[in-house]
Amino acid sequence: MLRKINISQLRVGMYVEHVDKDWFNIPFFRRKITSEEQIEKLRRYHVEEVKIDLTRGIDVGGDQPETTVAVAEPPQEPEESPKAEPRDRSVMSREFREELEPAKRAYRQALKAVRDVMQDSRSGRYLEQEQTKVVVAELVDSCMRNDDALVSLTKLLSHDEYTFSHCINVTVFTLVLGKALGFAVEDLQSFGESVMLHDVGKMLVPPEILNKPGKLTPEEFDVMKLHVDRGVALLQESFPDNRRIALVAEEHHERMDGSGYPHGKRGNDISQWGQISAIADVYDALTSRRCYKREITPHRSMALIYRLRGGDFNPLYVDRFIECVGIYPIGSLVRLTTGEVALVVSIRHDDLLHPDVLVLYRNGHRLLRPKVLDLSERGANDRFLREVEDILDPEEYGVDPAAHIIEE
Ligand SMILES: [Fe+2]
Repeated sequence: MLRKINISQLRVGMYVEHVDKDWFNIPFFRRKITSEEQIEKLRRYHVEEVKIDLTRGIDVGGDQPETTVAVAEPPQEPEESPKAEPRDRSVMSREFREELEPAKRAYRQALKAVRDVMQDSRSGRYLEQEQTKVVVAELVDSCMRNDDALVSLTKLLSHDEYTFSHCINVTVFTLVLGKALGFAVEDLQSFGESVMLHDVGKMLVPPEILNKPGKLTPEEFDVMKLHVDRGVALLQESFPDNRRIALVAEEHHERMDGSGYPHGKRGNDISQWGQISAIADVYDALTSRRCYKREITPHRSMALIYRLRGGDFNPLYVDRFIECVGIYPIGSLVRLTTGEVALVVSIRHDDLLHPDVLVLYRNGHRLLRPKVLDLSERGANDRFLREVEDILDPEEYGVDPAAHIIEE
């Protein structure tokens, strides 16, 4: 049950579900309020009203319930307090660094599996599921250990074949979002298998339309749309005992407002799997380079998707998706308010506007020894020392984000 309260009534132990400010433009915060600093952070961003969830935290005037995990929560993490000691960065990034190699292996195996299955699809053979099951299990394991590693690979590993890498990237994004929404591991597995095969029907679309280096005509687009029905038919024929496996193929182009295809389904007539995969599908398409367009920066792509929440997409899933992937995802090149040019190397899921960055340029000169900075650090006057001012194109600056982040 939700209750709307004034920010002055917000207390430690409450669980915040909504705030009254544009969620995209305030730092994200832990939803369970565990410290006064979190409340202060919301005040600083001029939040006046919030909705609290009474099933997950205390009510106005209530005591901290003994049964909540808040009682047993660890002490306040240092980054929550401007006066706290700087965090141990080696500890902070160790999980990410340790997961990079297993995540790379899982990603590359999955790419090979998708290529094989798509080729079977193209040659009219029934599909095999064994290989898909194995690679999805590897992706799920990696995601459960540390999902930032796998997410960063979607944009940092170079791959030429969009149709195949798109299948893996969408799978990664949906798994990460499914994990954030509390899916059990076995549900992530069956969801991931369905997502990985969501575009098999594209192999049954004429290649001159699939790979056309330009905008499709309305007639060509109608042919392109057939990849949904063709993919669903192939999946149902290949796996007659597993009806759910075709669900994402069938629904990933449906939209909440009924504007999608092939059935023009609306709202919750679209399954949760369909609603989630639609967001991941569009985000990956926007952020990918194609033969007819440059990639759009993750930040701009996320802003575009944010504008479509409530129309095309379920707002709840859009918000959680942004929380998972970030406003300035790992690998983004940014200009700071100090004029420094820096690469985002680590994001803070409860404060997406203040990631850790690697400063590459200062005063117009490239640094011989790039320096890691924590953008959540504040000065004596409690103001942030540096903030992100602009998003830059790494190519224009001769920066290869992958070389700094995923290659040892
Ligand atoms: Fe599709």
